[in-house]
Amino acid sequence: MPWTIEQIERRFLGFMEANGHVVIEGHSVRSPTDDVLFTTAGMHPLTPYLGGEPHPAGQRLTDVQRCVRTTDIDEVGDDTHLTVFEMLGNWSLGSYFKETAIPLSFKLLTEEFGIDPHSLYVTVFAGDREVPVDDEAPAIWSQVFTGAGVDPTGRINPLGEEDNWWSNGPVGLCGPDTEIFVYVGEEGVPVFGDKPEFVEIWNNVFMTYDRSKDGELTSLSQRNVDTGMGLERIAMFLNQHTSVWQTDELAELAEAVAATLGTSTADLDTDGTRSLRIVTDHLRAGLAIAAAGIQPSASRQGYVLRKLVRRSLRHAELLKGTDEGLLAAYAAAAEAVSQVVGRRWPDVGGSPDGDAARAVLNKEAGRFAKTLKSGVEHLHDLAEHGTTFDGDLAFNFADTLGYPAELAAEEASRVGMAVDPGWEARFEELREEQRARSRG
Ligand code: GLY
Repeated sequence: MPWTIEQIERRFLGFMEANGHVVIEGHSVRSPTDDVLFTTAGMHPLTPYLGGEPHPAGQRLTDVQRCVRTTDIDEVGDDTHLTVFEMLGNWSLGSYFKETAIPLSFKLLTEEFGIDPHSLYVTVFAGDREVPVDDEAPAIWSQVFTGAGVDPTGRINPLGEEDNWWSNGPVGLCGPDTEIFVYVGEEGVPVFGDKPEFVEIWNNVFMTYDRSKDGELTSLSQRNVDTGMGLERIAMFLNQHTSVWQTDELAELAEAVAATLGTSTADLDTDGTRSLRIVTDHLRAGLAIAAAGIQPSASRQGYVLRKLVRRSLRHAELLKGTDEGLLAAYAAAAEAVSQVVGRRWPDVGGSPDGDAARAVLNKEAGRFAKTLKSGVEHLHDLAEHGTTFDGDLAFNFADTLGYPAELAAEEASRVGMAVDPGWEARFEELREEQRARSRG
């Protein structure tokens, strides 16, 4: 039986609840802190409580958190990257520590998700010049494996700070972690290593330190556990899929979006599949961001939303093959996404926030439609004249046409223009000059 996203979510939260955790609502995608734009990890909204402030729901919590990592946006379209992904997590805010966290993780994976314990491998913190080696986690793992009748030899792998130290940024809360991998290869007795056959599925961070702006590490007043498991990734693994787009909800979404654009997933070639994933992902993310009260704008979160709408509109047009009826089809696609995603994310479904979010996306798409048309035509002309796409051209597109530079660069490659590899650096230079001029 395939595992649905909803079943996995329910099974995770139910297990954590049965083990003394209180299920809390995930935070919105709008960052709870000023230093970054969006919520980037399950622990992010819990930062004050991991730091020692009492949480109103107690010391053992669990939730599903929508996270945005803007660095992943340009990768969307492949098999694994999404603009918004969901993270399952459980936390001990100064309650249990490694002795409970590790067996709990093992039990969930093997008994609830039915993963063969022989396919599990872990890494642990080997120590660095600041923090000593973690010798407790390997001892606990060894007991856990042995207790399940699995020889721990070769399964518990100490690695350094680069692999087994987790922080949510250069300053703030951090600590050593233990990461859990499943082996999906064919070898009988594999040797653990940095290979694609070892898929990381879960991270248990022993969050016990705080790093200050000047780099100094101090111990927290309490010993916390912070775990993070990517929902789409675990769904992909449990169903033996090779792409997150084969998991039930994303597959349904992509099919629904394709239908609104007059196509179907079965009819698409590689480029079409990539475009459909971009439209679907960007609508899903755009709706979540707009439902969090963010409006499209020229900077910060607003710019990310603008980029998502504009890029998805262009890819919707490519799929549709014409700009005729594009805005109506785009609105229908947004509606379809909202209906499917809204079953689990009520704020983007048929709620006032969801209605407002769709209106925001449609309005932004409407504003951009004309620019899109003239920008694409202009690039086609330039391609015919053998022009190279460089930073000056990108700046011109962004500044005079309001056509986002990254979108223009993408389009330039699509129409076969030579793209100067240094275009981004030059574009940034021109932007900085412009900013300096406007500062006077
Ligand atoms: N906070 C743990 C993780 O995101 O992996």
